[in-house]
Amino acid sequence: MSLVNMKELLAKAQQGGYAVGSFSIANMEMILGVIKAAEETKSPIILQIAEVRLNHSPLAIIGPAMLAAAEQAKVPVAVHLDHGTSLACIKQALALGFTSVMFDGSHLPLEENIAMTKAVIEAARPYGAAVEAEIGCVGGSEDGSEDIAMRCTSPEQAKYFYEETGVDALAIAIGNAHGFYKQAPELRFDILEKVRDTVSVPLVLHGGTGIEPEDFIRCHQSGIKKINIATATFAAVENSVRQAYHEGRIGGYYDLHGAEIQGAYENAKKHMEIFYCTGKAE
Ligand code: 13P
Repeated sequence: MSLVNMKELLAKAQQGGYAVGSFSIANMEMILGVIKAAEETKSPIILQIAEVRLNHSPLAIIGPAMLAAAEQAKVPVAVHLDHGTSLACIKQALALGFTSVMFDGSHLPLEENIAMTKAVIEAARPYGAAVEAEIGCVGGSEDGSEDIAMRCTSPEQAKYFYEETGVDALAIAIGNAHGFYKQAPELRFDILEKVRDTVSVPLVLHGGTGIEPEDFIRCHQSGIKKINIATATFAAVENSVRQAYHEGRIGGYYDLHGAEIQGAYENAKKHMEIFYCTGKAE
């Protein structure tokens, strides 16, 4: 149990026909809530934070908290840097002991994305950490600051990218986007199935917030093995706190602390059930 490599979690998910939830956190309360849901449902999980969020939660502080929570957990937990863009930040996460890092070169020309991904794989090798990359372009941006246009993954490019890099997990774009969807996404399952049939790497779905349960199920039955959830967690925490104030349940700081944990817990638990990963930590 406890802190594990992400490769291990995704290999088991591939064999077992489910996906592992990768939950973005911003503070200790969210870490505690997500781990509580994983322990209660006996689910493997990934705790992640994106480079763009480190302005609010410095890596040198939040990183050790994530790792300590993973080490003490009763279920397998991988600790992942999401959307790494600079080699310096990726190296810092690796040195802290993160068991997985993402390099997001999706906005770069293909050959540059390949070259940078290879450099990240080299940096991760001495630590034995897993590397995730992205091909195609997931819409929106992780912190909502940009409206990046979505560009679906080309299955041929995904195959070429994988052959060139041998990356451990590959994020693809099939109509998904970060943040709340303005209208229900119509995921391109035809592209997902083609990529799955041509590339034997665990696939990653970003932009999990707002995707319908039946679409999640179809995704994890079609090769998606890691599903990222960020906005839904932040919203669930906010709503839980708002409701607790509204109902007069906040009498002091520690009631606020409890409401935050509860919001993160409920959101994570709901997603773990949809991803079919409950009971898979046993
Ligand atoms: P959402 O904020 O849409 O859940 O996306 C999460 C994500 O993909 C983080 O990388």
